[in-house]
Amino acid sequence: MTEFDGKTLKDFEYKGEPLLERAKTIDNYIVYRHNICHLPYRIITCSGSRAEMEIQNPYSQKKENVISFVSNDYLGLSHHNKVIEAGIDAIRQFGCGAGASPLIGGHHYLHEALEKKIAHFLNNEYAISYTSGYAANCSTICALLGEDDVAILDMFTHASVMDGCHCTNRKIFLHNNIESLLRALRASMDFKNRLVVIDGVYSQDGDIAYIDKIYEVCKEYGAYLMIDDAHGIGVLGKTGRGVIEDFGLLNKVDIITGTFSKAFGNVGGYTIARKEVITLLRYYSRHNIFSAAATPQVAASTIKAIEIIDEEPDIRERLLKNIQYFRESLNTLHIDYGISQSAIFPLMIRDEYKVNEAAKILLENGVYVNPISYPAVPRKQSRIRLSLTAMHTKENIDQALNQIEFVYNKLNLRRKTS
Ligand SMILES: Cc1ncc(COP(=O)(O)O)c(C=O)c1O
Repeated sequence: MTEFDGKTLKDFEYKGEPLLERAKTIDNYIVYRHNICHLPYRIITCSGSRAEMEIQNPYSQKKENVISFVSNDYLGLSHHNKVIEAGIDAIRQFGCGAGASPLIGGHHYLHEALEKKIAHFLNNEYAISYTSGYAANCSTICALLGEDDVAILDMFTHASVMDGCHCTNRKIFLHNNIESLLRALRASMDFKNRLVVIDGVYSQDGDIAYIDKIYEVCKEYGAYLMIDDAHGIGVLGKTGRGVIEDFGLLNKVDIITGTFSKAFGNVGGYTIARKEVITLLRYYSRHNIFSAAATPQVAASTIKAIEIIDEEPDIRERLLKNIQYFRESLNTLHIDYGISQSAIFPLMIRDEYKVNEAAKILLENGVYVNPISYPAVPRKQSRIRLSLTAMHTKENIDQALNQIEFVYNKLNLRRKTS
């Protein structure tokens, strides 16, 4: 037994201790996690984000080939030739850095083109780009809301949404629960502006928001609706416009946010809204004022990635087939993947220690997955998370399934009964 058994990173959050004392404790805790091979974070990848990757094993330090299920590069566009070429051309022409924040000198014509491109892609006219999806969410909420307003969030919205609320009031409603949302709205009528914020696809469970019902409720209560569809746009929806497309609400939702770091295979984020709101964000979102613009290369590569989603629909179709095949195979093995409806699959082991053991054994056997536990999810919801991509072959998926079956048997993990 050690003082660190059963502890998570959450246990070492700030509680008023002297800075160096806390840092030393955390350092000791990380060494402990490393020694029991339960430290699956910051693993060094040597080959970039691919289905078959070379990584440096964090425990042996040796380079190893693994099949990776940790990347959100859903369409593999980070390695698409045309995306790479567009980026190289931009670097040759415009250099590496943008030189300044968008407001004061760093707004390149490629950034302007990217904003138009993503707005049109999502059947809208106006967008603002940011250097991350995190910044898009955080900066948008902070610029739009103040102390007389309230953000009403689904309890599972992304950390960037939660963090954006430090400048306003915040209420949380139960996940995808319309009754709970209604209660929160009714209790918020004294605030000047009410902004309901949901994800399109939820990043831990891979399930989809009840967008149509939430949209109706927002209209009824005079609340604005913001949807972060970081995991849906480019992947789901009839033509890859995300889950909002299937509800026919693309140009009706007040604010859409997303990221260029997942289906678009690059980095950056964006907010889409009516013209006046985008103008407000251009001049008041602090990230656009006080932080340098993305490099022109990122803008050029991302523009190309957006085009490829329409030009090469077979890539998305491959991903959808992979999702279908994986889902059916897990059903056959009676493995519980929660309520997933997307490329994100949580294997619901529901025991923190076993989740870490399972991830360790999978890595030893060449399958790289993410263990997810507290504080990202409640302890009793601990799981292994896999993200499928269009780049996975049937052989890759079968190999993973074999290893998952092996781990479930070895650790005697609970299966679905029906
Ligand atoms: C739902 C959701 N929103 C926003 C983000 C942030 O995106 P980015 O990685 O571009 O900062 C993420 C990334 O993990 C996410 O899952």
